[in-house]
Parts: sequence; C-alpha cells; structure tokens
Amino acid sequence: MLNDTITHAERELYLTLLELAQQQPSAYEWLTRLPTWLNDIKDKANYAHAPAYQASVARLPNLTVNHVDLNSDVLTIDASLNQSQYKQTTALLKQLMPWRKGPFQIGGQIGDDESGIKIDTEWHSDWKWQRVAPHLGRLDGRRVLDVGGGSGYHGWRMAGAGADTVIIIDPSCLFYHQFMAIRHFIGSADAHETGRYRTHYIPVPLEALPEHSQLFDTVFSMGVLYHRQSPFEHLQQLRGQLVKGGELVLETLVVEGDANTVLVPHDRYAQMNNVYFLPSVAALIGWLEKVGFSDVRCVDVAVTSVKEQRQTEWMTYHSLADFLDPNDATKTIEGYPAPMRATLIAKK
Ligand SMILES: C[S@@+](CC[C@H](N)C(=O)[O-])C[C@H]1O[C@@H](n2cnc3c(N)ncnc32)[C@H](O)[C@@H]1O
Repeated sequence: MLNDTITHAERELYLTLLELAQQQPSAYEWLTRLPTWLNDIKDKANYAHAPAYQASVARLPNLTVNHVDLNSDVLTIDASLNQSQYKQTTALLKQLMPWRKGPFQIGGQIGDDESGIKIDTEWHSDWKWQRVAPHLGRLDGRRVLDVGGGSGYHGWRMAGAGADTVIIIDPSCLFYHQFMAIRHFIGSADAHETGRYRTHYIPVPLEALPEHSQLFDTVFSMGVLYHRQSPFEHLQQLRGQLVKGGELVLETLVVEGDANTVLVPHDRYAQMNNVYFLPSVAALIGWLEKVGFSDVRCVDVAVTSVKEQRQTEWMTYHSLADFLDPNDATKTIEGYPAPMRATLIAKK
C-alpha cells in the first residue's frame, strides 16, 4: 500500500500559508504560485527522476515511532523496525542517494539494535549547526526561511530549536524527496498543539519567490552565495524576505584578505564548476552593508576538514579529499586556497 506523505505535507503547507496570509497579505502571492511550484517538481519533463523519487517515498512503510529528537546531532527517529521493514526502508532510502546533508537515524540505537538505519551523509551538517547555533538570536516562536536547505537537516534543527514555522526552499528535486522521506517518519512529531506541521519545503530557488515578502524573522543562506553569479542580487533577495529588524544568517566560502579581496575561480573550484565569488570576510561585510544590512558581524570562520565532508556508504562519489591537492591540503586541486567558510550575522 502506498502512503500519502507528500500529499499530506503539501496540504499542511497550503494551510500554513493560508493562515499566514490572514496576518500577512504578502503570503497570498505565495499561495497563488504554490500550485505551479508543486506541480513543476512532479513533472518528468523538468525532472526525469521525479516519478522514481516519488515512488520511493510513497513505498516507505508506516512504522510505529516512539520518539523523535530534532535536537540531537544525529537527527533521530526512534521507531521499531522488523527485519523486513529494515530491508525495505534501507533499499528505498538508498534509491534517494546521494545523501549529502545529515546525519539521520531511523530505528533503534545503532550498535545495541541492528534494526537502526543510520544515514551517514557526505556532510557532518551537525558540525555546521554547532558553529552557527550559539550565535543566533532566538528562534523560539519565530518564522524562519532556510534558503538552499538541501535535505532539510538544518531546517529540522531550526524546528528543534523552537521555531514556530520553518520554510525550507531548494530547487533540487532529489533533496525535496529526501526531505519527504524524512517527513514520512517524523510524521506530526514537529507539529503545534493544533496538529499543524511546523517544517515545510518548497522546491524552488530563491529567485522564484515574490521579491519583497517580508515574511520571516530569520533568513538563513548557508552554502549558496558562492553558487550565485550575482551575489548582490542574492543578498537583496534575502533581504526582501526579512521583516524589518529581522536577522540574516549567511554562511559561505571565503578567502584570506582585505576589504578589496575577492577570488573568482577561472574554471573549477574544488572540482565544482558553479563557483563564482569568494570574498574575504572584510569584503563580505562591505557587501552586506552596501545592500542595507546593519550590525554585520562575522561569528565563525572554519576551514572545512576531510572529516566534515567525506565519501560514505550513502554518498559514494568523490568528496573533499579528492578535490584537494594530494601534496598540499591547504590548496584545492586547481591550486586555489582550500575551502574555508565564514558565518556572518546581520540585521535588516
Ligand atoms: C552547498 S549546498 C548547502 C546546503 C545547506 N544549506 C548547508 O549549508 O549544508 C547548496 C544548496 O543550495 C541549493 N541552491 C542552489 N542554488 C539555489 C538558489 N538559487 N536558491 C536556493 N537554493 C539554491 C542547492 O540545490 C544546494 O542544495
């Protein structure tokens, strides 16, 4: 029997936006566009794999879930799986590979109980959350947008931190279905007392959203800016989603240097062919101020280690170790400085 997880999640998203529109009329524009957004992601003319991903989610078994912990580093859904459910669930989740952002665990304690499935993702996304979370203004009761949220790992952590509503956006068809697979097991464990879900996913890029919605108290953009050809447009679009006084959390690749330093890789950067602007922290602070943010501060700078981003059983392609110079880990294979990331926080 097929489950109705995606339909149910879509219904919850509609109702959430409808309720929001009653206080914030700009949400009506989102409601107008929502049918197209949700229809496009199912269209195999746009995404050849969409029907297969949908089928994988729809065939996930209904488990008895004992407890969900959205606050743990390994996002854990404590459920009972018999051997056939374990095999079926593992096989279906593997059809949604590569799993890049996580980790997640479905089932009992790994080690004590072999019924547990640990999705050991390429990224230790929990490490990024540990670097970012201590510096955030309160999320409790807030409306949050996570731009480029991948599988949704950080979005679930935002809900775990008490956010009233989290909307994750990302144009990836695969990551949308990974989120739905996790949603299937989380069920209503993130819901308000009313039963309404708090965590939602819209499969669109930031540019598709109405420009000046001003709907969110906190907007996250983590790991997206360097993929944008027009970084200033991205920063303006993020600003347009924030309420006045709202908080932007921007995490991106940076290089050492002064306010005039920006690296534009000529071709690939760490084998990625879609990397455009890597500013210094000082330059990035200047960019944020130029588009109108205030109280801009850099709260963390970290060099990405091959323990944080690596090949796993759930992501079997090449990973960071293959993208660094084999003789000098401070450089990428192309000779650029190795990936270093900064987190900046700013006010609208
Ligand atoms: C490097 S991953 C970062 C994922 C996650 N935010 C994190 O920090 O671990 C970049 C994500 O941004 C998404 N993305 C790329 N362009 C985007 C855009 N224009 N708007 C929103 N998301 C975008 C990609 O699909 C991808 O999932």
